[in-house]
Amino acid sequence: MQLSLILSRLRVPPPPKITRLQAYASAVVIPLVTLAIQHELLPLVHLVPFILFFLAVFLVSWLGGRGPGFVAIGLSAVLADYHFLPPSNTFSLDPRSLLLITLFCVVSTIVNLLTAAAVEAYAEAQRAVRFRDDFLSIAGHELRTPLATLRLQVEALTQLADAQPGSVPRKHVDRAQRSVDRLIRLVDELLDVSRIRAGRLQLNFEACDLSDIARTVVEQMHDTAAHAGSQIELVAPDRVPGKWDRARLEHVVSNLLGNAIKFGTKKPIEMRVSLDAGTARLSVTDHGIGIADEDQPHIFGRFEQVRSPRQGAGLGLGLWIARSIVDAHGGIIRVESKLGAGATFTAELPLDAASAAPSSSSEPAAV
Ligand SMILES: Nc1ncnc2c1ncn2[C@@H]1O[C@H](COP(=O)(O)OP(=O)(O)OP(=O)(O)O)[C@@H](O)[C@H]1O
Ligand SMILES: [Mg+2]
Repeated sequence: MQLSLILSRLRVPPPPKITRLQAYASAVVIPLVTLAIQHELLPLVHLVPFILFFLAVFLVSWLGGRGPGFVAIGLSAVLADYHFLPPSNTFSLDPRSLLLITLFCVVSTIVNLLTAAAVEAYAEAQRAVRFRDDFLSIAGHELRTPLATLRLQVEALTQLADAQPGSVPRKHVDRAQRSVDRLIRLVDELLDVSRIRAGRLQLNFEACDLSDIARTVVEQMHDTAAHAGSQIELVAPDRVPGKWDRARLEHVVSNLLGNAIKFGTKKPIEMRVSLDAGTARLSVTDHGIGIADEDQPHIFGRFEQVRSPRQGAGLGLGLWIARSIVDAHGGIIRVESKLGAGATFTAELPLDAASAAPSSSSEPAAV
């Protein structure tokens, strides 16, 4: 496993940004502070006189990298030898002391090199993530203009096919229309990703109806589901009115339904909408491959996909976007599932998201 990955999994925070001068100053100050602490703790640590200096070297390497790390190793070796190796308050150069100092230098050099490499790898990974976000945002904007033109052209062809039947094969025009719509949705998704990452997801709250949103999405995805061999059953009251961002909620519902179709192994899918004590609830249940307990906490993260035969069929962004949107509405989204026995995703929304939503929508905490 890459060091950067280990660090990010361990949630080791990146070091604060400091100048070279500060880094070298820390290489002197930290071993001196360690010396003072070690003096106080001597009765506890006298058997391993270098123990706290390993921590000092780690800290300096984490803060300043390899160079300051080596300065800290040299200074620590001198201080520990002078103060803690018998006879104390003099430089001990007998074979046992020399062996101990050499051991300290070797182990702390390994600590220094590993820590510095891990921090560099972490910084490199952060740079790559920033580059990818910028790329997604620029690509999204650049793709939107030609796609809007393409959509107009396809709409003109649809009108022509309606006005002069037989002039253009309707089947092909419909297929082109669906592909353009899908491309536009994907590009909007890319743009949403960069907005969420930048904390700039603006919601347009308006009076709308969750039952109607569910019906619209089921209708839109009917063909896709039929093509995949799944039946969708919608159970919804006439109206579940609330104040939400309709387009974004359609996005959430179509992501959940898209997953149910993708991972539902052709079994029936149920979508339920309900209203309960001031909370609107929408759930999507499938009876497909399901998600193992240990994977469930991760699937709402960015680019997170569970290894499965369908892996790679998407980017691993759908649930992350869905959760960001539901969070920004002041709601919650959760999953209940058993491996091999399907999954139920439930989104709960306050009826008036405009007053319940967090003041600025931002990227959800990493899972
Ligand atoms: N209904 C489901 N059944 C089984 N696994 C699911 C289901 N929904 C999501 N998952 C798992 O969670 C992962 C993340 O889902 P998510 O929607 O974020 O990504 P995706 O569908 O793989 O790609 P994208 O949505 O970006 O096209 C999926 O790759 C899959 O492993
Ligand atoms: Mg998905």
